[in-house]
Amino acid sequence: MITKYRLGTPINTEAVVGELTPQPLDTFPLKLDIGGKTVIEFELQESDAVYGLGEASRGINKRGWIYESWCSDETNHTEDKKSLYGAHNFIVIGGREKFGFFVDFPGKIEWDIGYTLSGKVKITAEGADLDLYYINGESERDIVKQFRKLIGKSYIPPFWAFGYQQSCWGYAKQEDFFAVRDNYRKNNLPLDCIYMDIDYMDSFKDFTVNKKLFPDFRAFVDEMKAHNIRLIPIIDAGVKNQKGYPVYDEGHEKGYFCIDKDGGEFECGVWPGIVGLPDFLNKDVREWFGSQYKTLTDMGIDGFWNDMNEPALFYSKTGLEKANKKLDEIRSKEIDIWAFFRMKDTVLGVQNSMDDYSAFYHNIDGRKVCHKDVHNIYGAFMTKAASDFFEKEFGKEQKLIFSRASYIGAHRGSGIWFGDNFSWWSHILLNLKMLPSVNMCGFLYCGADLGGFNSNCTEDLLLRWLALGVFTPLMRNHRALGTRAQEAYQFEHIDWFSDVLAVRYRLIPYLYDTFRRCSEEYEMMFRPLAFDYPGDDMAREVEDQLMLGEECMIAPVYEQNKNRRYVYLPEDMTLVKLSGENTEKEFLKKGLHYVDVKLNEVALFIKKGKQIPLAPPALSTAELKKDELTYI
Ligand code: NOJ
Repeated sequence: MITKYRLGTPINTEAVVGELTPQPLDTFPLKLDIGGKTVIEFELQESDAVYGLGEASRGINKRGWIYESWCSDETNHTEDKKSLYGAHNFIVIGGREKFGFFVDFPGKIEWDIGYTLSGKVKITAEGADLDLYYINGESERDIVKQFRKLIGKSYIPPFWAFGYQQSCWGYAKQEDFFAVRDNYRKNNLPLDCIYMDIDYMDSFKDFTVNKKLFPDFRAFVDEMKAHNIRLIPIIDAGVKNQKGYPVYDEGHEKGYFCIDKDGGEFECGVWPGIVGLPDFLNKDVREWFGSQYKTLTDMGIDGFWNDMNEPALFYSKTGLEKANKKLDEIRSKEIDIWAFFRMKDTVLGVQNSMDDYSAFYHNIDGRKVCHKDVHNIYGAFMTKAASDFFEKEFGKEQKLIFSRASYIGAHRGSGIWFGDNFSWWSHILLNLKMLPSVNMCGFLYCGADLGGFNSNCTEDLLLRWLALGVFTPLMRNHRALGTRAQEAYQFEHIDWFSDVLAVRYRLIPYLYDTFRRCSEEYEMMFRPLAFDYPGDDMAREVEDQLMLGEECMIAPVYEQNKNRRYVYLPEDMTLVKLSGENTEKEFLKKGLHYVDVKLNEVALFIKKGKQIPLAPPALSTAELKKDELTYI
């Protein structure tokens, strides 16, 4: 059962689709203090686990750390980070008493989950206008399902979006894309999409294409499609402030950009230089921005990724001025070691600063609202602008769209990716841990940058990461400018990549079907073992294996120089190793096993009495023989 409580006059975040009548606040089951902030507190039993918070650092069980809901342009996904790109304010307490809890609030929230006191949760929202949803249920799964019904069905992308995808910040000219296509095809490696990062644009201006690099863009898109490859361009939140650029001119003329305290356009710097930030919280602005995607859909584009929409602010004009003044002050005296650090902090403090997030305003139904109070829905509403437009113009399931920043509610129209990770082994594990947490919050179409975005990838890292990625709905290899090339054909054993990528295509019918069902039935595609085996103490603590659908369990290798790993089987299962066209099976009893998995193999574990379909390998989803399935 879900009970709703309303405090003050909340801003409509559009997270929830169900209508519930708010109940009197004195019936709220947890300790609640309302002042300028809202504070909710409760005790944890020793054996309680806390799940949720979607895209966040650390474990599947969130207990023992302090988190913040604050969409952040955070490139260092280290354990000490409190926030990443999404704000997903839903938790489930699993233990003797089970309940779930959603704080529908677009400002900052702190979640102290046994950090200050190990047995206590303290949630502090920076405001007193919000909706609280308290969910009772029989089990963690039941609570999540009720919540998912409350927030509505998850986005389903087009079928081809389940194919393997290659991305790289740095593919610039047409020839770069042809080279990727040809190398994949020549080496018998499957591929469905190639991503276009900011380099395709004219001076990083949204909805433009650099004519020198792409003299006939429409023909280029068609030519790629003739090889069953779709191009997926990036769109950034900020619109370059440049007279004569029609998108800026129109936005400026209509007053569609966020304003500063004096009513002037708020000016901040991102990739294009100074930009206007579209006021996505305003419906007219959303309609206008959404319709801009038509420039590219008219040229045959079927998918997009929305970036820098936390929004990321490299600097603001005023922030930069202030920092320069401070630097002058420091420089006017003798520079000792402390002055040096003050200079460094002054420069670093300019980026994504709280002062800047407090310095601009939105127009929400005629009300001037400070950005910091609604920060967490900005990116979600940018992506809503796109997804609403696609649905209206093309119908459901026709266009691929996913976003970096997100808030619950955006899951109905789009997917997410997990942003700028590193080519680190620990980030394979972080990728795995985030999957159930974001699924709980409705985000089913999701995935990490396989191979790692920052720093240099190695062959074994990419193979092992792909062996997890073959199961994630979004399977995209992406890297940063200047890092080591990591397309599958760049390494020594291309045939091993062909073996692993073939497994993805063999699994697509199963994955797609499972994905659809999870969307329709409000289920999680990936679950912690604890959700499925509640009485099993060992399963409760497993943080490196996941249940997939109703049939399988996955347990990827995530350490270097290892050909095997421990896997806990909460019941008898069949270990299946897939590689290229090969399938090996071994029956294993419940308990702990040391399982060997080669670099060119993908292991999965099928539950007793279950079967999964496998298609023949294919080089693209268009060539996939969906009617030639065999069953294991
Ligand atoms: C940041 C994004 O997270 C990353 O994926 C992208 O490559 C860069 N912006 C450049 O657009």
